[in-house]
Amino acid sequence: MKCILMNKNREVLVAEYDAATSVFTRIYEIKDINYAPYILKSFYIENNINDTPFRTNLSEWFKGRGIPSWRDKLDLLLHRLNITAPYELLDKAFGLSLSDQYWLKPYDSNISYDDINFFDNDFDYSEFMEASLSINSKSITKESSLKTPNNTTDGMLKKAWIIDNGTRYLLKGGYKNEILQPFNEVLASEICKRLEFNHVEYTIDTYKDIVVSKCPCFITKDTELITCYQIKNEMKRHDNLEDYEEYIKKLEDHNIENVREKVENMFILDYLIMNEDRHLNNFGIIRDVNTLKWLDVAPIFDNGQSLNIEYYDEEELHISGSGRLFYEVKPFDEIIKIVKNIKRIDVSKLDGIVEWFDDLLHKYQDLTKMSDRRIEKLCILLNRQINKLKEFILSEN
Ligand SMILES: Nc1ncnc2c1ncn2[C@@H]1O[C@H](COP(=O)(O)OP(=O)(O)O)[C@@H](O)[C@H]1O
Ligand SMILES: [Mg+2]
Repeated sequence: MKCILMNKNREVLVAEYDAATSVFTRIYEIKDINYAPYILKSFYIENNINDTPFRTNLSEWFKGRGIPSWRDKLDLLLHRLNITAPYELLDKAFGLSLSDQYWLKPYDSNISYDDINFFDNDFDYSEFMEASLSINSKSITKESSLKTPNNTTDGMLKKAWIIDNGTRYLLKGGYKNEILQPFNEVLASEICKRLEFNHVEYTIDTYKDIVVSKCPCFITKDTELITCYQIKNEMKRHDNLEDYEEYIKKLEDHNIENVREKVENMFILDYLIMNEDRHLNNFGIIRDVNTLKWLDVAPIFDNGQSLNIEYYDEEELHISGSGRLFYEVKPFDEIIKIVKNIKRIDVSKLDGIVEWFDDLLHKYQDLTKMSDRRIEKLCILLNRQINKLKEFILSEN
């Protein structure tokens, strides 16, 4: 299929796309490389548009918009959707997403972004939500159920975009039988709110007796999320603190304000909740898709893999796990040292949060069947991190 890769209303390039394999077999013309997905720019060589790395990476990028192969219960989801691979969904809704404004326009069509984007146009999410989140679900029957932004979500957790009172929300379940993720998201939001960190607000919701987290879309029709992974891709990898410093510098060069503090805030949160999953696609920046201006550090999102979630043992209190600082996996006590002026944090604002979390976990116990013992241990861990942060602040001059 001959098509135009679009960024909202702008033409990026004209290419031949083979939907059966999700490969771009030929690029006919570059219209405006500046509006291409950020990750592609570094592969672009002028006057050599069919240069293989560029074309392969275009295919990789597009395929990467699909649901990843590591999505929890992917086989079941594919079965329910009646398809064999996630990329089969990509051309069902022009490859549109709710995290950016890219789409594939068939070459001879006069369809417009306004007619099809999922920010303005409602989508039929109920069947996909059921197929993705429910334990018992029928197969999808309506073709319209495959025309949703759910075709292009990233990440391991079962999830679904829904519309509630006009707002687009992302619902996320837990991994395997784990029920803690949604609560960790809500805890993270509460910490961020109290410490005034820019964050995505997660709340608890239930869907057919399953506890999920719910957060509003933080992208608008005028913006896109560019993850740190994409930004770092064109930079040299050091596997030390330089990776972090160069990222800060890059964002500062693009005139984002208070970059260092904002990125530090994310690592302070990760310290408090012992988040082990801060990989480079779990943070980034927001770019204006019209002016290409880098607007801000993206609000903090995806904080569920925390509080020793993987190491729970009913008998013992295991304190394991490490955090991530760019390409390195390190103890949380090491990572927190990157914060230049930790004294700016007023930990007393977290007073009472352990009790608050304890109440929250108990409130949903009927549904989660989480044991009192586990709740107690989670609270001990949280309390411990808060106290350790206090001590660390006192020890800094
Ligand atoms: N509120 C949101 N608004 C827009 N895009 C989002 C939002 N939350 C997540 N995303 C996008 O969806 C991807 C998957 O979400 P994430 O919370 O990271 O799920 P997982 O826990 O499965 O990794 C993110 O990497 C980001 O690109
Ligand atoms: Mg994620």
